[in-house]
Amino acid sequence: MINYLDPVMPVQYGVHGLDGANSPMRRVTRQVAFESAWDNQRADKVRDLFDGMADHWHERVSPDRGAPLADAIDRGDVQRGLTLELGSGIGDSTAYIEDHVGPTVSADLAMEMLIRAPTDTRRVRADASRLPFADGLASSIVLINALLFPAEVDRVLAAEGTVVWVNTSGENTPIFLSSEDLVEALPGAWAGVASRADRGTWAVLRRAST
Ligand SMILES: C[S@@+](CC[C@H](N)C(=O)[O-])C[C@H]1O[C@@H](n2cnc3c(N)ncnc32)[C@H](O)[C@@H]1O
Repeated sequence: MINYLDPVMPVQYGVHGLDGANSPMRRVTRQVAFESAWDNQRADKVRDLFDGMADHWHERVSPDRGAPLADAIDRGDVQRGLTLELGSGIGDSTAYIEDHVGPTVSADLAMEMLIRAPTDTRRVRADASRLPFADGLASSIVLINALLFPAEVDRVLAAEGTVVWVNTSGENTPIFLSSEDLVEALPGAWAGVASRADRGTWAVLRRAST
């Protein structure tokens, strides 16, 4: 069950020029989350896509984009401790996660994205469909506009851990899942809180006691 919190920050609906619902990445996002539709060919294609966008990715990253992550951490009862940031891109959120949640390891499939991240962050090139991390390692897993590989998130997250899901352009984000989608896609029973901030949406989920 999701408890929807009233927004406490200004909210903007709609992002001019971004039509995430009709983006090819939206289809990939849903297929990965619900059909485990990921193989080497798709991985290569997605990696090449983001490698090719890396040089200009910083132009997409504005300071106000941080509002939904900050709100999720403030009000989401996020589990502190060792944190994995999956699909970390150029690492613009990593320092914030490290300062507010815990020591953070960032993983991304695209080397061209990773090498543009701040040099003082811990970075691993890895495919989030097969993470090089032990079972139950992470107190929290943060995914910002990132693909959800439900089985791996479930495997690597500690029993009491939290999944922090952020879409910085809300429903207009190409890689978007609603809170209900997350609950449905993750194995087992999950519950948590969700809200909106600025243009974005967020959810923080933990395993529900049955
Ligand atoms: C839309 S970008 C988001 C980047 C960053 N989180 C942000 O919000 O700016 C998605 C990122 O996920 C990475 N990615 C895509 N598939 C992945 C996978 N299977 N494993 C790890 N990272 C992946 C891409 O390389 C890209 O950097």
